[in-house]
Amino acid sequence: MKNQIFNGETYLITGIADTQSLAMYVAREIVAQGGKVVCTGLGVSPFHRQLSEKATAFLQKNYQDFQEAVSVGLGEVPTAVLDASLDESIEAFARSMADQGIKLHGFLHAIAMDKTIRQKEVKPLLDVSPDEFCDTMGVSAYSLIRIAHYLMKYDVLQPGSSICSLSYIAAAKVTFHPYRNISIAKAALERITIELADELGRKNGTRVNAIRFSPYMGSKAGTATLRESDLEISGEVSPLGNASPEDLAHEVVHLFRPGSRITGEIRHVDGGYNIMG
Ligand SMILES: NC(=O)c1ccc[n+]([C@@H]2O[C@H](COP(=O)([O-])OP(=O)(O)OC[C@H]3O[C@@H](n4cnc5c(N)ncnc54)[C@H](O)[C@@H]3O)[C@@H](O)[C@H]2O)c1
Repeated sequence: MKNQIFNGETYLITGIADTQSLAMYVAREIVAQGGKVVCTGLGVSPFHRQLSEKATAFLQKNYQDFQEAVSVGLGEVPTAVLDASLDESIEAFARSMADQGIKLHGFLHAIAMDKTIRQKEVKPLLDVSPDEFCDTMGVSAYSLIRIAHYLMKYDVLQPGSSICSLSYIAAAKVTFHPYRNISIAKAALERITIELADELGRKNGTRVNAIRFSPYMGSKAGTATLRESDLEISGEVSPLGNASPEDLAHEVVHLFRPGSRITGEIRHVDGGYNIMG
């Protein structure tokens, strides 16, 4: 097809939980634009130790939902387990890409986890434990560094590749929905984006950007954290209303476009919410 953005380049898509995940919209748009995808989901890995029955069942169900979603939304594409809380799991994934001869032209980081938000209630920051703080930071922010590290180590991430992560306005401002613990991890994710843009740009010509997206309730993470009233407030405040997952997918694809020189940016796909006082 003419006028497609990609010419068979392959992108890693993390963070698909189901067909409504933001990462799924991005994966579909990459494929529609002539690219290929490799998808990773959270599941049981050989590196988990002393998993309880409950945790095992949760991870198995999560991975099953992920595989079904990929099959429905994308058809036959390579899939693998990647648990961002386990360094060995990230390394094993990167090694498996190298073993299969798969070269990546970039990846989407769409991973976030914060156990201090339960049934839409956010724990006050003063009550967040050291483990809760570090777990959220590790999975939601530091994992961006580790995925890039291992993909570079195994020579999987191609020169001139592009990385994008998903953030939101709460990284910088207290908003209609104060997230507290995860907001701090998002601020770290954005700073990591900028530092990596410098390091990886010089080392590998790799671009690194982040996008702050509007609140979205379609996904598991969105349903678990947001209320309808949050979306109404942000939709009314934003000059263009809330942005859609399709808007987000177009912007990620734009940032993945081979040969661009956009890097180190924290962009907004939020209907203009960020310009309001
Ligand atoms: N939904 C929103 O309102 C919104 C707005 C802006 C940004 N975001 C960001 O977009 C990204 C995707 O969120 P979503 O709304 O599509 O929700 P989602 O629930 O579909 O995606 C979150 C993903 O994180 C994965 N994950 C959690 N812990 C993991 C681990 N240890 N290892 C690997 N994967 C793990 C989950 O399996 C899931 O696939 C997140 O970074 C989120 O913070 C969401």
